[in-house]
Order: sequence, then C-alpha cells, then structure tokens
Amino acid sequence: MKILFFLTCSIFFIESLAAQTVRIPASYSNIHYDESGRLYFQKDNQRFYADTAKANYSLQQMLGNPQGGEDGITLNFGSIKGTLVYGFIPYGKAPHPLPVYRLSAPLQNGKAVMNIKRDFRDPYDMVGWQQSGIMHIGYRVIDERGMILYDGVVSVTGKGPFAVVPAIYDGPYVNNVTHNSAVLWFKTDSPVQASVKVNKKQFSDVTPQTHHELAITGLQPATEYQYKVQYGSLSQTYSFKTAPKPGSRKPFVFAYTSDSRHAYGGGERMVYGANAYIMKKIGALAYQQNAAFLQFTGDMINGYLTNKEEQHLQLTNWKKALEPFWHYMPVYAGQGNHEALTYSFKNSAGATVASIDKFPYAATSAETVMQEAFVNPANGPESEDGNKYDPDASQLDFPSYKENVFYYSYDNVAMIVLNSDYWYAPQVSRESATSGGMHGYLMDNQIAWLKQTIDKLEKDATIDHIFLTQHTPVFPNGGHVGDDMWYRGNNDKRPYIAGKPVEKGIIERRDEYLDILINRSKKVLAVLTGDEHNYNRLQLTKEVNIYPDNYPHKKLNVSRSIYQINNGAAGAPYYAQETAPWSSHTKAFSVQNALCLFYVDGKKVKMKVINPDTLNEIDTIELR
Ligand SMILES: [Fe+2]
Repeated sequence: MKILFFLTCSIFFIESLAAQTVRIPASYSNIHYDESGRLYFQKDNQRFYADTAKANYSLQQMLGNPQGGEDGITLNFGSIKGTLVYGFIPYGKAPHPLPVYRLSAPLQNGKAVMNIKRDFRDPYDMVGWQQSGIMHIGYRVIDERGMILYDGVVSVTGKGPFAVVPAIYDGPYVNNVTHNSAVLWFKTDSPVQASVKVNKKQFSDVTPQTHHELAITGLQPATEYQYKVQYGSLSQTYSFKTAPKPGSRKPFVFAYTSDSRHAYGGGERMVYGANAYIMKKIGALAYQQNAAFLQFTGDMINGYLTNKEEQHLQLTNWKKALEPFWHYMPVYAGQGNHEALTYSFKNSAGATVASIDKFPYAATSAETVMQEAFVNPANGPESEDGNKYDPDASQLDFPSYKENVFYYSYDNVAMIVLNSDYWYAPQVSRESATSGGMHGYLMDNQIAWLKQTIDKLEKDATIDHIFLTQHTPVFPNGGHVGDDMWYRGNNDKRPYIAGKPVEKGIIERRDEYLDILINRSKKVLAVLTGDEHNYNRLQLTKEVNIYPDNYPHKKLNVSRSIYQINNGAAGAPYYAQETAPWSSHTKAFSVQNALCLFYVDGKKVKMKVINPDTLNEIDTIELR
C-alpha cells in the first residue's frame, strides 16, 4: 500500500514537472528535457545542457526604478558598480533633442541621487523647470571599466518635492510611411494612456500601456505633418512627411547600411552592444541628405545572447543612437545573425557545442524580439510551418516571419526585406544534429512569398525599381567567404529540419534566388547586403564565374545584369578583402565606415557612398 502510494506520488511528481516544461518544437532533433526539466542536446550518449547563466544586464534594470523625493530623484541599478552622468534633455528647444550631460555621481550599492535643487538651480536651469515644474533628465550609466551601458531618461514634475512621471525612453519614431498613412510609436517606462495629434485629429491608446503604436490614417500625399505626442501632462512635437502618390516619379533619396555592432576604442563606439558613435553620424547624414527612409539590414547589435531582456537593452541602445533623426525619418531594420537569441548547449569546459533559436517561439525567439523592438510592415509570409518538411502540421514548429520579412514602397521604388538568418542555429553548418536554420539560407516558404511579391511588383505600373535586401551577401568578398551564400562553394551546406537535411544546398538555393531576381523580374536593380564589414559593389553578368570547379548542378542563366551592393560598414570591426571566384569583378572595396545614398529620379538611379564620420566620398556610380 505504502509502495503504491509512493509510486503514484512519483508519477504525479514527474508529470507535474513535465507539465512545467515547454513543448520542444518538432522541427528540432536530439533536444530533450531531463528528469528535473533541464533542457539538453544529446549526441553520442553525451548530454550538453542549455546555458542557464543569468543576463549580465536587462533593460528593466537600466530604467533605474526612479523615485522622487524632497530634493531630487534616486535611481537604483542593482548590482552595477560605476558612475551615473546626468543633465537635462531640452525637448522642444532643439529639433533633435539630446541630453546635455553636466554632472556625475558614483553609484553606491547601485544607487545615485540626482539632487535637482542643488544641481540645477540658476545658472544651470536651461529648461526653465523652476517656472514650469517640468523637466526631463537624461542619464548615462557607465560601468567601472568605463563602458557606457545605457542612456536613459527620467521625466519629473514639481519644484520640490519632485514626482516621477511616465517618460518616453525609446522614441517617438515614425515608420510604415505611405502616401496616406504612417505609424507613430514609442515606449514609456511606466504605463500611460498616450495619444498623438496629427492634423487636428487625435489617435489614442485604448488602455494605459508601455508600448505605444498608433496608426495614423487619412493623410495627403507628399505632405509634411507635425505630430504632438501627449503622455500624461507631458508632450513632445516633431514632424514627418508622407510619401508621394505611388508612381509620381519625383526625385528622392534613400539610404542603406548595416552592421553596427559595438567596436573598440572606448566611448560611444561601445554603448553596450552598439557602435552608437557611427550610428549617430549615419542618422545625421541620412537626415541631412533628405533621405525618405533608412534601410538597415542586420547586425545592429553584438547580440548572440540567451536572455531576451538583455537583447532588448542592446537593441534599445542601437535605436537611441538614431532616435534624434528617427523622430522625422523612418528606419526599417532587418534581421542579421547577431540578433540571434538562443538556447546555447555547452560542454563541461563551457564551450558552446550547438545552439538553437529560443522557444517558445511566440515569446522568446530572435524573431519575436525583432518584432517587439521594431515596427515594420506586417505583409510578409507567416512562417516556415507547412513547408514540405514540417513534421507536425497541427502545431507551430517555426518562429514567425512577421516584421522580419516584408516589403514597402516609396513612389516608384520597392524594397523587399528578407531574412537570411531565420530560425538561426549558429552552429548548424558544422553540427547539424540539433536541426535549425543556417546563416545565408532563404527557406522554402520565404522563397515562395518572394516569387509572389516579385510577380505583384512586376505588374504594378507605379513601380520602376525593385531592391532586395538581406543580411548575407550572395557573393561574399571579405570576412564571410566561408559562409553566407557560398560556404567556399560547398553545396552540401543546408538547414536541417527534424533531423533531416533539406533538398536544396546553399548554392542551389542561391541560384534559385538569383533566378527569381534576374529572370522573373525586369525591375530588380540591386541586392543590398551586409555581414561583411566593408563596402564594395559587384555587377553580376554572364562573364562572372560564380561556381566552384566541377559544379554538378544546373547553372544559372544570367540573362541580364544586376548589382550586389555590400555595405556592412556601419561601425562593426572591419574585414579586409578575401579571394573568391568573382574577385576580379568586385569594385570599390573599402573598409571606411559607409552610408549608401540612392538618388532616384524617375527611371534613373545614382548611388553615392559617403563616409559618415569624415563626409568624404567613397564611391559614386550610375546604376540605371
Ligand atoms: Fe552578420
């Protein structure tokens, strides 16, 4: 009787443990939970456990839990040792308000007090808080080694005592701009029912929240609109311009770059995760050149993390660098390999044996973090669910493509943004036993969606030029000849789904991709890529050798020429040129930081490439 009771209890105990674990997507292989619910990857009777190390930092921690007091504000950053630097942000007094840091205080037990009465009395009251009782204090958290961890903002009311009120720490940003609509969005550090006023019309949140995303509709083409963001008793005012009526064929400019993960040399080149120094210069240059939008395709941050809150901190640091310009000009961000968010399986020495996109996908995948961190058009494919390898048609076994694969248009130009780091398992090209997406590989459902989208845009009489962009070069030239869409010519490389390799290898899939762009389209002009931290261009013609020796598969018919424009020079540490079969056709190779500016004038497109740091020209070419 006693034994039976014990057995029943044990079974109940094991079942309840199993109930606490999340279903492992059927698209993976050799991934299991152990008796205590710990996730592991099994290979040759060996178990490699998922890294459960805590995050170094989180975004929530950097918000500093501000508390008002009689003389000022106390911020608390938990375990961080270092320094707090602070000063006012003059919203409304400058078109691109930035904090003017004026004072610093050591963090003691992670805390610092900003004494407003003492620090910001005359002649330091540049925002008039002594009259209005309103101020926004920008703060910078610096660790003990001098690395900048975060630039934040706390909004304050009162003349002493002081009260903390909801602050916008991220945004406001303008996105999804069309000829008659736009989306304005921002994040606040505490819930508030915010609104945006455009053209005397008010668009409001339904409930108090921290992520605010308001669709502005009923606008006129090619018109500048002021917008006023109201949050509690505070407001900020900026403006944006709608796109011209599709097919107007008026001259305009757009900007392209990628790869801005943090670099060396200290200062703002390493604001935890992002090269904020170069990104800010890129934002300023794009805005100064009147860019209608900035397309940025992958590796915004250092990333490769296992914790979502830490990933959000790095992405916020990246956005903050562009924020002063993004108030006015949309920025569209695509996914790269560094945006990976994984379960990382380690050996006993602590080395990573394999890693996979984190699940449950809807809550914690790299794709979900991208969707939470950015606002992009939601017109892409659903996911890779339902592809011919999907092991379980009734369940979701792949992350979403929502807002990481999409397209948009501006006048007579269409931009198709693809994800060549989808469902990314960083080691899968060497360790396929886990299954997972492979760097550089465009999977089946994405390719099917691309075909449909190209067909639609080919028929659209308002569109003259189609640009494609994905993080990985079709033809790597420096830094990634060993992977991207080439793998040194090794077509064996491919993703694995549920333990099985997919049918088409990387070179075959590259050729299918190019076949769509070249032979299914007359409008595709160029593929904009990154990943390699340099600038170069390559004109693909039938003269260019794109195959390894003795390639056994069907070869591509290059019936017309297209360009590959690689610009991964937005601040990540450089890569020099390597040798590839197409090297003699690779032009204008440069490791200077670079912004590509496309000047579209009806049927003509000219590109200028400018160093955003020094403003010298790197390259110029008429593309069409
Ligand atoms: Fe990359």
